Amino acid sequence: MSDPRPIGFFDSGLGGLTVLRTVRRFFPHESIVYLGDTARLPYGTKSPTTIRRYTEQNIQLLLKRDVKAIIVACNSASTTLLNGSAPVASPVPVYNVIEPGARAALASSTSKRIGILGTRATVQSQAYTRALHALDPSTMVFSQAAPLLVPLVEEGWESDPLTNLIIYRYVAPLVAQSIDTMILGCTHYPALKDGIARVTGANVTLIDSGHAIAEDLQADFKSGRVKATPTGTLGALKLIATDTSTSMNETAARLLGTTSDLTQFELVDL
Ligand code: DGL
Repeated sequence: MSDPRPIGFFDSGLGGLTVLRTVRRFFPHESIVYLGDTARLPYGTKSPTTIRRYTEQNIQLLLKRDVKAIIVACNSASTTLLNGSAPVASPVPVYNVIEPGARAALASSTSKRIGILGTRATVQSQAYTRALHALDPSTMVFSQAAPLLVPLVEEGWESDPLTNLIIYRYVAPLVAQSIDTMILGCTHYPALKDGIARVTGANVTLIDSGHAIAEDLQADFKSGRVKATPTGTLGALKLIATDTSTSMNETAARLLGTTSDLTQFELVDL
């Protein structure tokens, strides 16, 4: 049995495209609908109640597009689905990026000293700390909120020298804790991976949400929890946003590693 319906993704903005890109590399035949809630970005500075409300609205919009699974490609939104929160009403599986990220980090860490770089909302929620401790209570977790990084990525300043200075300011204190693994706890940060790796050095493994979630999806395709699209044709990609800006297509194209004529957004209101 197969299911040709698309997989839905959402993020507060364009950062979730880093997750989409990785998942698409694993499953190129799957169609995808991506929603960037650009009108309400950033999420990471908002309260859990507000982020949860946005999360539910985004899920409803994707369900109306007849998706077969939903990937919450936003750590800040994912935190509002955990920590004992009421489960979200959805007839299709909803994947958060926190638990797979925590699993991947523990699988990679030898010292069990793990750093978390995330938005304020993600760090304050302690969702990663809880997820890591649920798997291994002896894990030493060091967290750093990095609120300035999301706007720099949305602005397309991934390689700017100023961005590298700001990365240093946020990442150096984590490196000083002798971590051997760092979770990129915001889907915007894989776009800054080179700059982050220059500060951490080669001895720290960087974990991003895309790979972790792709492995979960793989397992669910195998078990039949989500039915795969038959292989053979390239899946369609539909991009939706709640607001547009002049540099958006170029930034989206860069994050997806494609050309900007493939990154036209349909504008929607939530
Ligand atoms: N990319 C989002 C995340 O993973 C959040 C960025 C934001 O809106 O603050 O947390």
